[in-house]
Amino acid sequence: MRRAYAVVTGASSGIGRELAKVLAREGYALVLVARRTEALRELADALLQAHGTPSVVVGVDLVTPEGVDELVREVRTRGLDVEVLVNSAGSGLAGAFTSLSVEPQLAMIDLNVRVLTALTHAFLPALVTRRRGYVLHLASMAAFQPGPLMAVYYATKAYVLSFSHALHEEMRGTGVHVTALCPGYTETEFAARAAEDSRPRLFQGSFGRSEPRVVAEVGWRAVRRNQAQVVPGLRGVLGTWFMRLLPRPLQVRMARYINTSTGPGVSRA
Ligand SMILES: NC(=O)c1ccc[n+]([C@@H]2O[C@H](COP(=O)([O-])OP(=O)(O)OC[C@H]3O[C@@H](n4cnc5c(N)ncnc54)[C@H](OP(=O)(O)O)[C@@H]3O)[C@@H](O)[C@H]2O)c1
Repeated sequence: MRRAYAVVTGASSGIGRELAKVLAREGYALVLVARRTEALRELADALLQAHGTPSVVVGVDLVTPEGVDELVREVRTRGLDVEVLVNSAGSGLAGAFTSLSVEPQLAMIDLNVRVLTALTHAFLPALVTRRRGYVLHLASMAAFQPGPLMAVYYATKAYVLSFSHALHEEMRGTGVHVTALCPGYTETEFAARAAEDSRPRLFQGSFGRSEPRVVAEVGWRAVRRNQAQVVPGLRGVLGTWFMRLLPRPLQVRMARYINTSTGPGVSRA
């Protein structure tokens, strides 16, 4: 029997890296995707040592016009039998909408929305044909309400959540599972990249923090069980419910409080 592959974007760090480890343990061969090829190679070596997992390393900037095509071509040329797609590559930006330049915010929309959508469109039909497959999208607790001071990031994650729920329903009866994984603050490189010049309360762990390893395990379990969405951790579940109970104007004020900076950048603090 041919070996089934899992394509994992954002595999060079954080949640994507941990999901790659989980999938290797589960017996999948891997396509590891991110810009930092060296980090991907190190992970590929570690997975080979630990589980005998073969990996294909694809070092690509997915935001470039040719990025998605490059990855899809690599997978098709090699004739890989893809059973799992994890869309974990993503970025955030903290700050008031008008104080941030527009280009990085548009690049964030590109990565979090366009790339995720294009990759899902490229790989999903083959999963349906083989009548078995798993698509795991990294949404966020940010998906559940608007987020002043991270306005574009929250909006991209609302898209991911909505898109995942719709696809989950479209895939009913096909054997393909689609899940939105919605973590709260998780200790990865995300915070330092998103908040170079500010220190939002969110990234100080005042509202709880998760380990990427735990988030990855929760996400994989949820997509195996065919849950449309999952929020890791009791604190995350309660926080989401609490937010849902609030009227919209209060949700937005609460999110603003959480995203308000209290000092210099996370990377400099
Ligand atoms: N950490 C949190 O608190 C948190 C909470 C909720 C949701 N999330 C979501 O979880 C996902 C993973 O984030 P993380 O926390 O694991 O952060 P992370 O450690 O910063 O990982 C982000 C990954 O995306 C890759 N990436 C970024 N830009 C890319 C590009 N242009 N092309 C290809 N790959 C790119 C990065 O690799 P390279 O730099 O090597 O390209 C890295 O592997 C994101 O979608 C994020 O929005 C995170």
